[in-house]
Amino acid sequence: MSLIDRAEARRKSALAAMDPSEQAALGQYFTPYQAALIIAGLPRIPQAETIRLLDPGAGSGMLTAALADRVRAECPDATIDVIAVEVDKSLRPDLAETLSDIEALGNVKTRLVGEDFLTWALRSEDRFDLIIQNPPYAKLQTGSARQNLLRMAGIDVPNIYAAFLALGARLLAHNGQQVAITPRSWMNGTYYSRFRREFVDTVGIDGIHTFESRSKVFGDTGVLQEAIVVSATRGQRPDKVQVFTSHDHRDDASVRSVAYNDVVTADFIHVPATEKDAEAVAWMTQHAHHTLADLGVTVSTGRVVDFRSRDMLHQERTEGAWPMVSASHIRNGQTSHPVGAKKPEWFHAAPEVASKLLVPAGAYVVIKRFSAKEERRRVSAGVWNSDDAVAFDNKLNYIHHNGAGLELPIARGLAVFLNSSRLDNYFRVFSGHTQVNATDLRQMRFPSLEQLRLLALVDTTSQDTIDAAVENVMNAVEIAA
Ligand SMILES: C[S@@+](CC[C@H](N)C(=O)[O-])C[C@H]1O[C@@H](n2cnc3c(N)ncnc32)[C@H](O)[C@@H]1O
Repeated sequence: MSLIDRAEARRKSALAAMDPSEQAALGQYFTPYQAALIIAGLPRIPQAETIRLLDPGAGSGMLTAALADRVRAECPDATIDVIAVEVDKSLRPDLAETLSDIEALGNVKTRLVGEDFLTWALRSEDRFDLIIQNPPYAKLQTGSARQNLLRMAGIDVPNIYAAFLALGARLLAHNGQQVAITPRSWMNGTYYSRFRREFVDTVGIDGIHTFESRSKVFGDTGVLQEAIVVSATRGQRPDKVQVFTSHDHRDDASVRSVAYNDVVTADFIHVPATEKDAEAVAWMTQHAHHTLADLGVTVSTGRVVDFRSRDMLHQERTEGAWPMVSASHIRNGQTSHPVGAKKPEWFHAAPEVASKLLVPAGAYVVIKRFSAKEERRRVSAGVWNSDDAVAFDNKLNYIHHNGAGLELPIARGLAVFLNSSRLDNYFRVFSGHTQVNATDLRQMRFPSLEQLRLLALVDTTSQDTIDAAVENVMNAVEIAA
């Protein structure tokens, strides 16, 4: 059996012996060997006399085995120094066996550090040429000792996996590379913005591997996160990023070379896996420049949670009831109400409760937060405009002006833009999930007020007309400017 086969056998037996509650607490989702080969295949192997490797949260040692095997094959004469850090005592016999297997490759020194990686990394003076990791996934409790320790070191992250990434980047030697498989959540959104900024200031992303199938990579471990592999080099900024895409970890990947600035921007990391994705990002970066805040408007999530407000929701209109607007009222870019939906379409409550849950009469843009699988679009928006106050379901986001309605042409223009194919194509690259969160909308860029007023004149019943108008208006104003 090869080194990798033996490591895979150990991974499987370690996984089988695990207590599921412990497994979740320590984020113990081990990398299957085919995925390990993809991850270990991503960095360049440095040509040096000594190559220093680190595996934070090493588990049974699958990733170290895959990387050391590759380094030995490509640099037969180099000395390899390996450090594997693993906090869980019960995994150490398996890890120790993998490390001694790796030593048998010849000219390899290994060290097993049986400690918490966070505290070890914060005091370690060691620096590494290659770091490979599949870090644990666990939320960091606000105010916990662990979070405080990280904050004192300038690391402000909501999940331990990002702390592992940040510390890994700090432990790299100049030109050292880190490759990691993680969820995609750090690539956009406000929770990770501080981390992202430090990360892309310290390292240059040079390779990304995405999997089209969300759930299959860790299929035998129960993880359903959307996983992504990123390799990055300390102190470098390449002109291009190699973006690999495969269906899951078992089939061949296609590769594209994408301009660095189309992947790494000040606000997000985009992963344009296809030509179409790259074009969607490039178009948006070039044409849309205004956040909702720049436009003086705000996006919020609907206030009425149906299961908490059952007694206020009614199927039939009753005296003094207000419209209850939910996702089923947005169709083809329009809102209509009532439509005879299964869910209650009317809201009635005592004035003191109603004043907290209703929004005043006026024009709003309502956007579905969830798209059904069979829906063609991820983003669907409509304009709600009425002389009555209204209740918005919590499964909608709505755009307003300081809690009140928008100027009608601005609402119409925003809905046209949100319903355009350009926006939908962009959103698919920008967001790793199918939900349309208010935080996503806050971060995205929109046309100017002037452009929105022009878009408001469009007939919104046809996708072709919407798309042509967005094209014309956004290009024309740019030429004029
Ligand atoms: C997602 S698993 C990956 C294991 C292995 N690298 C692999 O790819 O198969 C994360 C590993 O990190 C370990 N771990 C969790 N928290 C840790 C910590 N604070 N310090 C060191 N290791 C930790 C877990 O016990 C687990 O073995």
